[in-house]
Amino acid sequence: MPQLNLVLLGPPGAGKGTQALRLSDDFGLQYIGTGDMLREAVSNGSELGKSAREYIQGGKLVPDELICKMIIERLEEGDPDAGFILDGFPRTQPQAEALNRELEHLGRSLTATLLFDVDEAEVLTRLSGRRVCVKSGHNYHVKYNKPKHEGRCDLDGSRLVQREDDQEDKVRTRLEEYREKTEPLIGYYEEKGLLRKIDAGRSADEVRDQIRATLAMARLEEQV
Ligand code: AP5
Repeated sequence: MPQLNLVLLGPPGAGKGTQALRLSDDFGLQYIGTGDMLREAVSNGSELGKSAREYIQGGKLVPDELICKMIIERLEEGDPDAGFILDGFPRTQPQAEALNRELEHLGRSLTATLLFDVDEAEVLTRLSGRRVCVKSGHNYHVKYNKPKHEGRCDLDGSRLVQREDDQEDKVRTRLEEYREKTEPLIGYYEEKGLLRKIDAGRSADEVRDQIRATLAMARLEEQV
């Protein structure tokens, strides 16, 4: 069976992280989430974290050269025999080109880019209600995905908080960044024949089912 190497593309709050974890469990894929990697670097106080901190907190994209270096290192040290999910990368044209070059260098290729299609009103509802565990970073939602005990993580009982960049003004900046710098990648991947559109406005279970069906189809097409 050919490897599954996926890019998840879509606006902030579209549900990419939620589905990435499910996909990673379902198919045994390596999860590479740039947001999580950057937040970890910030909390460790590494050089990368110090450079990225202000951008993340302000809802702006971190400069391409920092992100590309981080992802290239991660791909090179990862298991070459296991597929991967890139959640949150690439987000600009130079990042997409850098990924292309790196995959060629590694002799690997993308199976599909999944576009999480959802309207802005839903994104705002999802982000304003998102709560994350201070310890594991696990995601909840005050309405759509409630923890068993209010304000506490189901996995380890730690406190749940709102991400700093989920405040309304930061979300607006993130959406502007998405429209200006990331949305052009839809055409880029469409031209390569890799784009698969997912109706991400539905429930998390329905989105998962659509992704599974889409990937089954992509694999069948690969074999034809
Ligand atoms: P990152 O952490 O990647 O943020 P993002 O792309 O804005 O994505 P989110 O994590 O906000 O949303 P998501 O789509 O994963 O949704 P989720 O599943 O959590 O990046 C943060 C920052 O890092 C960036 O702003 C930038 O500064 C920097 N950065 C990262 N990558 C970069 C790059 N490549 N280049 C430059 N800078 C970069 O779901 C959201 C909520 O909705 C949750 O509460 C969830 O429970 C709920 N939910 C999920 N699915 C559903 C559903 N189907 N129905 C109802 N609720 C749902």
